[in-house]
Amino acid sequence: MTSTLFDLTGKRALVTGGAQGLGRMIAEGLLRAGARVSITSRKAEVAGQAAQDMQALGDCTPFVADLSTPEAAVDLVRRYRTHADGLDILVNNAGRTWGGPIETFPDRAWPGVMAVNVQTPFKMVQELLPELTASGAGGDPSRVINIGSVAGKVIEPLQAYSYSASKAAIHQLSRQLAADLAGRNITVNAILPGFFPTSMTAHLRDEDGAPKGLLDNHIPLNRMGRPDDIAGIVVFLSSRAGSYVTGAEIPVDGGISGCR
Ligand SMILES: NC(=O)c1ccc[n+]([C@@H]2O[C@H](COP(=O)([O-])OP(=O)(O)OC[C@H]3O[C@@H](n4cnc5c(N)ncnc54)[C@H](OP(=O)(O)O)[C@@H]3O)[C@@H](O)[C@H]2O)c1
Repeated sequence: MTSTLFDLTGKRALVTGGAQGLGRMIAEGLLRAGARVSITSRKAEVAGQAAQDMQALGDCTPFVADLSTPEAAVDLVRRYRTHADGLDILVNNAGRTWGGPIETFPDRAWPGVMAVNVQTPFKMVQELLPELTASGAGGDPSRVINIGSVAGKVIEPLQAYSYSASKAAIHQLSRQLAADLAGRNITVNAILPGFFPTSMTAHLRDEDGAPKGLLDNHIPLNRMGRPDDIAGIVVFLSSRAGSYVTGAEIPVDGGISGCR
């Protein structure tokens, strides 16, 4: 029983922003567990190279998409449909941030961040409802996994005003969707990562990847997140093992939110 508990063979997954950073860690984890995975990037070369690299792990298909507008999500889903015959797992991972002092925090730091981090994930779910409803029909729910942030749950000294507000919004949106879609056999959960070594956190770690500056003595487990940490929770939620979990906000943060 345990040997198949986390098996994703036959499952079809779409990971936005899956070519690099956290999305890449997630895509690789899903592929290793047996899923077929589609990924997106704004850049064709980045998407293509990542998919080519990940073919060694399984069936990986690249899509180019700038998910700054709902229209872009509609277009991505249209193109996805020409390639795939359904969807079991949607991971809304693509995200933007902006940090700066309150005095000069610009108006333009709001609409783009809110669009990519909140509005587009909603639009992706809305557009993919036919697929998610169809694949969740058999008692094994289809899965929506939204990547939030610990910064949307506790106060971090990042001065990322629109970002932390957008992440709190995606957490609440996840719970709202979980309630509304449970009857269709679709689970919706939010993962709240702490600090992982991606381009988004490059200024917060030293050359060895160790936390520095703002993060000195900040993470109870005293290290940044690793690929297995984020892949593990996504594979768990996507697998039979996670089929009874919905409406959850799951921190993966080395204890930042839970140990304070
Ligand atoms: N790193 C952390 O410690 C951490 C902590 C908490 C939450 N998160 C969340 O994890 C997710 C991934 O971030 P990351 O850390 O991996 O940062 P990252 O390396 O900067 O990656 C950001 C990802 O979002 C995509 N993206 C950004 N703007 C986009 C747009 N307009 N349209 C489509 N895709 C867009 C990027 O795709 P391309 O550049 O390839 O187009 C990239 O894959 C985000 O939601 C972030 O908020 C990260």
